[in-house]
Amino acid sequence: MSDWIDVCDLEDVPLLGSRVLKTGTIDIAVFRTSTNEVYALENKCPHKGGPLSEGLVHGKQVTCPLHSRVLNLDNGTVVAPDVGCVRTFATRVNEGRIKLKVTDKG
Ligand code: FES
Repeated sequence: MSDWIDVCDLEDVPLLGSRVLKTGTIDIAVFRTSTNEVYALENKCPHKGGPLSEGLVHGKQVTCPLHSRVLNLDNGTVVAPDVGCVRTFATRVNEGRIKLKVTDKG
């Protein structure tokens, strides 16, 4: 089973910033790029659990605030030479509202 969750207005997420959605089982960081693209990643760096929502957004990437690993927002992978991956979630913006698809896995 999966559902689209209504998160917030696009404008509620600052440009190059994020907002955290707590589902009860997982914290999801919703990011907005400088070009108004929206991505959603588990808010937990695969290195040592740093809060990615507090990281620096640049292009389609975020830099973890703890030890500066860089993750791709579109697929959750850590940029080489580091390794790792976090869960990603499908997003869409409909009439200015951000929607997020959360599956049973999380
Ligand atoms: S916890 Fe993110 S780089 Fe270490």
